[in-house]
Amino acid sequence: SPIGLPNLRQCELATDNSVVGPPTTIHVNCCLPIPSGDVIDFSFKKYKAPKRVRQAAHKVSADYIAKYTRAYDLMRSLPEDDPRSLSVQSKLHCAFCNGAYKQAGNDSVILQVHFSWLFLPWHRWYLYFHERILGSLIGDPTFSLVFWNWDDQRDGGNVMPAMFLQNGSSLYDEKRNQNNLPPTLVKLVPGITGNNTEIINQNLNAVYQDLVTASNAELFMGGAYRTGVDIANSTVLDAPLGGSIENGIHNAMHFWTGDPTLPLFQDMGTFTTASRDPIFYAHHSNVDRLWDKWLYDLPGRRRRNHKDPDFLDAEFYFYDETGSLVRVNVRDALKSEKLGYSYPEVAADDLWVNYSP
Ligand code: C2O
Repeated sequence: SPIGLPNLRQCELATDNSVVGPPTTIHVNCCLPIPSGDVIDFSFKKYKAPKRVRQAAHKVSADYIAKYTRAYDLMRSLPEDDPRSLSVQSKLHCAFCNGAYKQAGNDSVILQVHFSWLFLPWHRWYLYFHERILGSLIGDPTFSLVFWNWDDQRDGGNVMPAMFLQNGSSLYDEKRNQNNLPPTLVKLVPGITGNNTEIINQNLNAVYQDLVTASNAELFMGGAYRTGVDIANSTVLDAPLGGSIENGIHNAMHFWTGDPTLPLFQDMGTFTTASRDPIFYAHHSNVDRLWDKWLYDLPGRRRRNHKDPDFLDAEFYFYDETGSLVRVNVRDALKSEKLGYSYPEVAADDLWVNYSP
C-alpha cells in the first residue's frame, strides 16, 4: 500500500550520521508543531494562484533580489514554532529524512522521503508551499523561487549564485564551503579534478548520464517505496532505490555546497540542516526543473513518471501560508503547470542534452 500520513503525535529525536571522515552522530529535535485547526485537503481550486515563472538565480534583477531578501527576512523573523518560519520549514526536511516519524500504521519502520520514487514529488510539494509562504509574507502572490542553474556550463549558472553570498543578508548562510565561492566552478561529481574545461566536461557528462541515459522512471526517479519497505539503512553513498538525479548530481551539489570543515558538511551537506540554508530551495528548484526537462523536453522516446497506484496515492503533510496543515498526494504533484508555475527555456541545456560521452 502507498505511504500514508504519519502520526505527528509520535515523534522521536532525529539522528544524523556523517558519511565521510570521522564517524559522527548528531541528534536533533525536529518534531513538528501541530496546528489546532483542521487539516486541509489540498485541491487545485483552494490553492489557486497567479501563474509564476521561476527564474535562474544568476539572472534576476537587483529589485528581485531585494524582494527575495525581504521575504526571507520575514520568514526568519517569525517565532520559531510558527509553521511558516525558516526554523519549522527546515524541520520539515529533517523530520521526514532522519527518523523522527514512523510510517503510517507501521511503528517499526521509519518514514524517509529520500532514496526512492518519493524524492521528486515530496520536494516539489515542499517548494510549492515554501514559495507560497514567502509570497504571502511579502503580500505578493506572484512571488516565485529562483533556480540555481548549476547544470548550465556556459552562461554563468555553474557557480554559487551571487544573490546568496552577501554576508548579513537573509539569503546568506555562513555554513558553506568557503573554497567553493565564485569563480570556483561547481562539481557535479564529488572529487572530480582538472582545469575548468575538464571540470565542465565532466559536469556535462554527469547531467547527461543522470537525465538522458536514465530513460525510465525507475532509473531516473527511483524505485518503489511502499508501506513496510525499510530504507532506514540507506545513505547518500548507498541508496539502491534512489534515482539517478537524486543519487547523482543532486547529492553532489549538496556536498559541494556544505562546509567540509564541519563533521556532517553542514548546512547543505546533510539532511538535518540542509534546508536551513536558503540556497537549498534554489538548488531544489533546479532539480524540479530538470524533472520537467526530463519528462517533456528530451529527444527520443517520451519519458513517463511512475504509474503505480502506490506511487500516485502516497500522501504527505505540509504547512500552507496560513500555517494550516495540508494533506497532499503524489498524483497532484506530477504537473508543475497545474500547480501554477513553470520554468523558462534554458539555452545552455543543449550542451548536456547533446553531449557525447
Ligand atoms: Cu531532501 Cu536535496 O534533499
